[in-house]
Amino acid sequence: MQPQPGQRILDACAAPGGKTAHLLERCPHASVHAIDVDPQRLQRVEENLSRLGLSAQLLCADAADTERWWDGKPFDRILIDAPCTGSGVVRRHPDIKWLRRDSDPEQLAQTQLKLLQRLWPLLAPGGRLIYTTCSVFRAENEGVMGRFVDELQHDQPGQARPWRPTDAGDERLHGVQVLPGDNDEDGFYYASVERAAVR
Ligand SMILES: C[S@@+](CC[C@H](N)C(=O)[O-])C[C@H]1O[C@@H](n2cnc3c(N)ncnc32)[C@H](O)[C@@H]1O
Repeated sequence: MQPQPGQRILDACAAPGGKTAHLLERCPHASVHAIDVDPQRLQRVEENLSRLGLSAQLLCADAADTERWWDGKPFDRILIDAPCTGSGVVRRHPDIKWLRRDSDPEQLAQTQLKLLQRLWPLLAPGGRLIYTTCSVFRAENEGVMGRFVDELQHDQPGQARPWRPTDAGDERLHGVQVLPGDNDEDGFYYASVERAAVR
């Protein structure tokens, strides 16, 4: 995310707040807006931030329903740590294998794509959006990001460019996939898109 002091940052799927807290620890003078659709889980964000002596603007809402909650001021950074199958963390949560249904990856992919489509317009020129999941399924990762980037290139040519981080993991056409067991980490996917700066 490379947050900078004074930036307006949206953490769109924030609960229980691990990444919200990390962002604030990295950059205490950023203005972080943390949203989650689940009120009980949002409560955990509040507890975790308060335990760490951090603060963010918290909002319980469907992040995709921007007409309901957005004040019209663009964000410099947007993090979408999207709801996903959790297939990358099965070794720590083995019940995931029993709880998931065959239809889940495609259904979740629709939700993930919707979050990207609805939140992209909230990004400031020169801003950066990061999309992450703890899934290893292509349908939720490169599948979603590929569809999103194709749409952007079609509808807003020249307005978006993938940004390639130089961190660990296997580089894919869109984004980076970490597989469970790589450096004893969980499965994780991340991709980033930057909005062209206005000249
Ligand atoms: C993978 S978890 C986020 C983990 C969190 N970023 C962290 O690091 O602690 C996904 C979260 O997205 C929330 N969520 C699902 N759909 C949402 C939506 N439409 N708008 C906002 N939050 C949503 C879920 O309630 C869940 O807490």
